[in-house]
Amino acid sequence: MTDTRPGDAWWRTAVVYQIYVRSFSDSDGDGLGDLPGITARLRHIADLGADAVWITPFYPSPMHDGGYDVADHRDVDPRFGTLDDADALIERAHALGLRVITDIVPNHTSDQHGWFQEALEAPSGSPARARYVFRDGRADGTEPPTDWQSVFGGPAWRRVPDGQWYLHLFGPHQPDLDWSHPEVREDFEATLRFWLDRGVDGFRFDVAHGMAKDFSTPLRDLGPGQVHHRIVGDGWEGDHPFWDRDDVHALLRGFRRVTDAYSPPRTTVAESWAALDRRALYTRPDELHQAFNFDFLTTPWRADALRATIDRSLALAASTAAAPTWVLSNHDVVRHASRLALPACVDPDDWLLTDGRIPAIDSDAAARRARAAALLLLALPGAAYLYQGEELGLPEVPDLPTDVVQDPVHHRSAGRRKGRDGCRVPLPWTRGGPSLGFGPGPAWLPQPSSYSPLSVEAQSGDPRSTLSLYRKALALRRTLVHVDAPLQWHSGRDAALLDFSIGPLRCVVNLSNEPTALPADHLILLTSGLRAAPQETLMRDEAAWLSKSE
Ligand code: NOJ
Repeated sequence: MTDTRPGDAWWRTAVVYQIYVRSFSDSDGDGLGDLPGITARLRHIADLGADAVWITPFYPSPMHDGGYDVADHRDVDPRFGTLDDADALIERAHALGLRVITDIVPNHTSDQHGWFQEALEAPSGSPARARYVFRDGRADGTEPPTDWQSVFGGPAWRRVPDGQWYLHLFGPHQPDLDWSHPEVREDFEATLRFWLDRGVDGFRFDVAHGMAKDFSTPLRDLGPGQVHHRIVGDGWEGDHPFWDRDDVHALLRGFRRVTDAYSPPRTTVAESWAALDRRALYTRPDELHQAFNFDFLTTPWRADALRATIDRSLALAASTAAAPTWVLSNHDVVRHASRLALPACVDPDDWLLTDGRIPAIDSDAAARRARAAALLLLALPGAAYLYQGEELGLPEVPDLPTDVVQDPVHHRSAGRRKGRDGCRVPLPWTRGGPSLGFGPGPAWLPQPSSYSPLSVEAQSGDPRSTLSLYRKALALRRTLVHVDAPLQWHSGRDAALLDFSIGPLRCVVNLSNEPTALPADHLILLTSGLRAAPQETLMRDEAAWLSKSE
């Protein structure tokens, strides 16, 4: 195996490329991406200059939530391939110098999981039900046990034929496990070992902030107007009955003990939608190595806001000696190549409403900002997580016909929310073909014609393309960005500029409406602008990487 970053703690400065399995590459023409498709295309990610791939769940699943409803954590869904295909993928990735992070889902299973099927057949109060969260309802059993709402919409409880209710913080096909049950923990740790023994280099823990719930009786209601989903912490008084509870940390320490038993050490990253100050707790030295920085992702395109988020993120990472992480897009949010150009007053989720009133965005501003944001992201010290297709500048597809949308968010909200499929449209590899090179037949979601000129094929030979910008930035970053070098702001210039140095690299981003002159005593290494040659002036929404001239 070629070590792209020698040293045990490779993840501290890694560029990790997220593969959304269903939408990356389809080898067999069934319209869904698969593991052999990924293996065949890993060269693209190695050539991009990434250090690792994070692969979303590929385990047997009824696909009510794109694979995050896992029926068996120790196998591969036949639509995605076989265990041999998983082994071949890991081997090929390692041969190309790429580490492999798999996505693992501890909070819930599919309702098709053997344990849940057993629980349904077993009577109320039986050991088989104790692995999940079954409770009697209120008001003669006809009302759910609490007022808790599920993330995908509607009550978080579903009634089974014998009258009991089970908890599902996500869709009803995703029953929550009871993590106070020792068998749940032992079995999950066996799953971790199963994949570690097959050679994976780390895990992304889904919903890492949700496993510990307050089951003291009587269960408590949240009350009207309270936070049922996403980020809790800021402004939240007291402990929440199911999100971001202190008890979750003992579970994370247990996971860490499993991964630490392997040599070389494996890495772990938390998906924890907790407020930033609480999120730092997930990365204490004996817990997970990293947590996604969703504050960066949700910060508006304004210099003051971005600078504040960057400073706070760096301080909190330092407080636990963890490497900071930076992320702009993933398979759950509106792609940043659209999001960054939405008017400040528009909520990205509202933008996707299906009532035909999708406001147009300024696509030039969107493209400019996405390129500038990439240079900002990649200049920051720590690990950068890229979402497949951002290296092509892919925008969100906001106008998918509702009859093709599969996301449970759409269906659970009775069509009031469009859901997340607009960022999951399969990748365009070639200018033409039945699914722009994604596979030999049509793709599970239709690609817009605007994806053809953004294909890998179309961008590869063009030095000004977004793909070329990412390739150059990743190559430069390898030598220039040091996680432990202090980030130093250059103030005194326009407040609408981000201007900082880290080690030998200086990064300037112009978020004002006016052009700005770049500092004179520097060499221009790279600019995000689409003008023919790098110039000494940075236009609005452009970024530049500079180095001190000798
Ligand atoms: C977070 C995943 O990223 C998302 O796609 C999924 O729907 C939920 N967790 C539930 O597993």
